[in-house]
Amino acid sequence: MDIVLSGIRSTGHLHLGNYFGALRNFVKIQDSYRCFFFIADLHSLTTHPHPDDFHANVRIILSEYLASGLDPEKAVIFVQSDVPEISELYVLLNMLSYKGELERTTSFKDKVRLAKAKARNKPLNEISYDDHDDEGININAGLLTYPVLMASDILAHRSNFVPVGKDQEQHLEYARVLARRFNNTYGCDIFPEPRALDFGSGLIRVPGLDGSGKMGKSQGNGIYLCDDDRTITKKVMKALTDSGPVGPDSPMPECIANLFTLLELVSAPDTVDYFRGKWRDCSIRYGDLKKQLAEDICNTVRPIREKIDSVYNDDAYLHRVTGEGREKARASASETLALVRKAVGFKSF
Ligand code: TRP
Repeated sequence: MDIVLSGIRSTGHLHLGNYFGALRNFVKIQDSYRCFFFIADLHSLTTHPHPDDFHANVRIILSEYLASGLDPEKAVIFVQSDVPEISELYVLLNMLSYKGELERTTSFKDKVRLAKAKARNKPLNEISYDDHDDEGININAGLLTYPVLMASDILAHRSNFVPVGKDQEQHLEYARVLARRFNNTYGCDIFPEPRALDFGSGLIRVPGLDGSGKMGKSQGNGIYLCDDDRTITKKVMKALTDSGPVGPDSPMPECIANLFTLLELVSAPDTVDYFRGKWRDCSIRYGDLKKQLAEDICNTVRPIREKIDSVYNDDAYLHRVTGEGREKARASASETLALVRKAVGFKSF
C-alpha cells in the first residue's frame, strides 16, 4: 500500500482553510493509503516559542486533528519531536544540501524579507533580500534548512505521496532532489521520489473574509475550528462587501465571489442557487446572504468544536494516541534509518 504523509506546523489554531483544503481530504484517504499525519513541532521552533506555548500548541493541533476525523485506528498520528530518527536523517541530509539552493528557496526569501521589514519598520517593497544587513534579526539556520527538515519528515517513512498546497510545492520538489541525490551518492535505491497527492476536484482555495485571496493563519481573516457560534457570526457579518450589483451583467467583485465560494462549501445547493439568482436579478441583500452563510458555517464547525473541547482535556486519550503514534512512527522510521546508516557506512565495532 502506498504511503501518504503530511504535517502541519504547530503555530496556532486550525481554520476553515486547513479543514477544507487539507483535513477533510486526509479523513477521506485514511482507508486507501498507509497514512502518517503528524504535528511539525520542530518546525515551529524557528520562531522561538515560549516552552509553555510550545507544548500547548502541539496539544491544540492534536485535538483539532482528532476532532476533524483523523482516526488513530486507521492512520499513524504522531508528534514530530517524538521521533528522533527524523532529526538524525536531517543531519545526514544536511550534508547533501547546498547553501546556494537553500538560499534560493522562495519561502526562505519571503521570510527573510518579512523579518527585515518588521525589524526596520518599513514596507515590504522597500526591502531587498540580498543586502546582508540582518544583524539582530532572527534569520536562523533552521529557517534556511527548513526544506531539509521537511524532506526528512517525508523520506523517513519513504513516503510515496504528500498532499500539499501550492505554497509547499517547491519544498516537495526539494525532497525529490534529496531522495535522488542520496540514492545516487550512496549507490542505493532506498528512497522513492515523493509525489504530490492530487485530490482533483477536492482541491479548493478557501478565501478569507477580508476580500483577500486566501484564508491564512497570519492574515487575521479566518474562521477557526474552535470559534463559537457568536464569534463566527460576528466575523461573517463584518466580512467585506461592495455596494451591490448595478445591472444584469455586473461583474462580481472578488469579495462577493469569496462569500459564494464559502457558501458552496457549507450550504445546500438550493441555498447557493437561491442567492446566485438574487445576485443575477440584482435583488440580493448582503445582510441575508451573510446571515445564511454564518448559520451554515456554524452548523459545519459546531460538531468539530464540541469534539475539540472534549478531546483537548482528555489527558488519558491524548497520552494513548501519541504513545501509539510514536511507537508506529518510530518503527517505520528506524527501518529506514537502518538502511540509511548502512548505506552511509556506519558500522559498529
Ligand atoms: N511545511 C509545511 C507547512 O508549513 C508543514 C510540514 C512540515 C509538512 N513537514 C512536512 C507538510 C512534511 C508535508 C510533509 O505547511
